[in-house]
Amino acid sequence: MDYTKVWLNYRPIEGAQGKKHCVCTRESGAVIDNIYAELDTAFAAMYGEKPARGLTDGAVKIDLFLDKTMGKESYRIEKSDRTIDIASGGQEGLLYGVFELLRRMQTGTLEGNVRLEKKPSNPLRMANHWDNMEGTIERGYSGMSFFFENNEVIVNERTRDYARMMASVGINASVINNVNVRTTAPWLLTERYRAPLIEMAKIFAGYGIRLFLSLNFASPVRVGGLDTADPCDEKVIAWWKETCRDLFENVPNFGGFLVKADSEGEFGPFAYGRTHADGANMLADAVRPYGGIIVWRCFVYNCQQDWRDNVTDRACQSYINFIGLDGQFADNVILQIKNGPVDFQVREPVHPLFGGLKHTNMMLEVQVAQEYTGQQRHVCYLLPEFREILDFKTCNGEKYDTVKDLISGKNYGYKNCGIAAVVNTGNDANWTGHDLAAANLYGFGRIAFEDTLTPEQIAREWIALTYGTDEQVMENIEKILMMSWPAYEKYNAPLAIGWMVNPSYHFGPNVDGYEYDRWGTYHRISHSAIGRDRSSRGTGYAQQYPEPLASMYNEIDTCPEELLLFFHRVRFDHVMKSGETLLQHIYDTHFEGAEDVEKMAALWDALEGKIEPEAFARVKERLAFQVEHSKEWRDRINTYMYRMTEIPDAKGRKIYE
Ligand code: GCU
Repeated sequence: MDYTKVWLNYRPIEGAQGKKHCVCTRESGAVIDNIYAELDTAFAAMYGEKPARGLTDGAVKIDLFLDKTMGKESYRIEKSDRTIDIASGGQEGLLYGVFELLRRMQTGTLEGNVRLEKKPSNPLRMANHWDNMEGTIERGYSGMSFFFENNEVIVNERTRDYARMMASVGINASVINNVNVRTTAPWLLTERYRAPLIEMAKIFAGYGIRLFLSLNFASPVRVGGLDTADPCDEKVIAWWKETCRDLFENVPNFGGFLVKADSEGEFGPFAYGRTHADGANMLADAVRPYGGIIVWRCFVYNCQQDWRDNVTDRACQSYINFIGLDGQFADNVILQIKNGPVDFQVREPVHPLFGGLKHTNMMLEVQVAQEYTGQQRHVCYLLPEFREILDFKTCNGEKYDTVKDLISGKNYGYKNCGIAAVVNTGNDANWTGHDLAAANLYGFGRIAFEDTLTPEQIAREWIALTYGTDEQVMENIEKILMMSWPAYEKYNAPLAIGWMVNPSYHFGPNVDGYEYDRWGTYHRISHSAIGRDRSSRGTGYAQQYPEPLASMYNEIDTCPEELLLFFHRVRFDHVMKSGETLLQHIYDTHFEGAEDVEKMAALWDALEGKIEPEAFARVKERLAFQVEHSKEWRDRINTYMYRMTEIPDAKGRKIYE
C-alpha cells in the first residue's frame, strides 16, 4: 500500500492488549463482510487480536442486529461490561455504528456504560469529485485522480479504501466525475465504461455509498447520435429513458446524476429556449422508476461580462435564474446551491436562494478542495466556516429557518435534500496533499452526518484518530486548525471583497487579477474607496434577502463588518467599529494574518518527536511555505493599498513602496 491510512490509522490501546472480543450477527452480505474486515483490521491493531466470529467464552460480545423501528442509517450503541449491542434499521446503520464504536475505542471515549442513538441529520451526504477522464482533477491539489487514468475507469484496492474512508464519516453518495463533463466523460453513460462502473458501484454499495455521475446535457447528441438535445423533444426523452434504464438496471445501487447546465460554457436547456425546470424534470422522469435523483446546480451566471458594465452583478444572478422556478421542480430533483452567491471565496454571505426557495428540494454545496483558500499548501480548516453557514438564519418566516434546517428536511419535511462538498482527494500518498487538509474531508462527513457538532469537537476527534491522544499534540494541532481560517481571511482579500487572486489557477495574490476580466468579480478600487455597492442604491443584491436581513445588509452601519466590502463601496477613511479607518484595518489584518501563520508554524515545531517523522516533516515544509506566502499576500495587498491611497500605516510598519 503506497498511501496513508488517514484517520483509519488504528493504533494499540495501552493496557488493553490481548483483550478478547467476539462478533455475533444473523446478518450477511457485502456490508457485513466489510464490517467484519474493519473490525479485524482495527482490533488486530488496537488489541493485538482479531475478534472471534460467534459467541466465545470470556470475550466481550459485539452484537449486531436489525431493529426495524429504526431508520436504515440510524444506529444505537449500548455498551455494558461484557456486551456491546449495535442496532439499526439497516446494514448501513450497523456499519456507521461500528465506525462510531471504533472511533470511540480509539479516542478513549467509550468508558463505562454507554448508550447512544444517532440518526443522520442529512439524507444525502455527498462527495463531488471533479475528476477528469484523462486523470487530472479540476481544482485538485492532491495529485492525480484515483478514479480515472488515460480515459479509463480505475478500480483497485484504493477504490475500496476510498469507500471505507468515506463511509467511516458517513458519506453515502459519490459523484466520481467532474461537473464539467468533457472529452470522453459523456461516454460514462454508455456500454463503453459499464464493466468497471459496475465493479466500482459494487464496492461502493458494500459501504453504503451510492454512485452518481455528472452528465453532459448534450449527451443525446454527443453520444446518442441524435441531432438535438432539446428536453421537450420526444426522441431525446426516449433516449434518456432508455439510457437510464440501462444504467440503473445494470449498475447496482446507482444513484442518479449531478448536472451543471447553462453554466460556464456547459450545455443546457437554454439552447432550446427551455428552462432549468424543463431540463431537470425531463431527466427526473427518466430516473424516477429506479428511485434515481437529479441534482441540478444553481451555479448559473453570465461569465462573459464586460468589466465596464457596472450594472450587471454576478452575485445577483443565481437567485434570479432560479427563484421564479420555485415549486416547478419534480420531487426527485434537488437544487444544489453553493454556500455563497459567487464562488467559494474565503468569506461570502450565505446564498439568498436558501431563504428564497420554499417549494424546492435543496442541497448545500461547499468546497472542501481549497481552490480559493490556499490549495492545500496553506492550512485552512474550513469547519468553522461550515458551522456558520449551517447555523445562518435565513429569516424566511419558517419555523425552522437556518440553512441546516432547510437542507436537512427538518423544516419542510423533504426526503431528497442534504449537503454536498467538492472534495479534496487525489492519488497523493496522504490523499489530500496537505496532511492537515484531511481534517476538512473528515469534518465535512462528520458535520453532514451530525449537523450540531462543533469545529472544535471535530478537530479533536480527527487529531486523536490521526495522531493519537497525546495532550500536547491534541492541543497544538487544534490551535493550528482553529487559527487557520481566520488567519487566511486576514491576509487574503479583505472584508469579503474576494478575488484578489491570480486568474485561472487561483493561487497567490493579484489584486487586479480579475479586475478587467469577464468573470464579473470586481473590486473597483480608486484612491478613496473600494467595493461595489450591492445595496438598494446599487445592484440591489441585498434585496434578495428577506427582512430584516435585506435592511441590515443594505446599510453600511448595520452590515456585519466581515461582509462590509461584499455589500458596499466604502471609503478608505470610513471608521470601523474598532475606531480604526478601513485602510488601517486592512493594513492591520494583513500584518496579523501573517503573524498568525508564524505562530501556527511554531506550534507545529513544538511537536517534533511526538509525530511520526515523515508526517511531521511534510507538514513542517508546507507551513514554512505558508509563512513566506502569507507575507507575500500581506505585502502585495498592503503595498497596493498604500500606492493607491498614499496613506502610510499608522503603526509605522514596513510597507513597500
Ligand atoms: C469555479 C471553479 C471551476 C468550476 C466551477 C463550478 O468557477 O473555478 O473550476 O468548474 O466553479 O463550480 O462549476
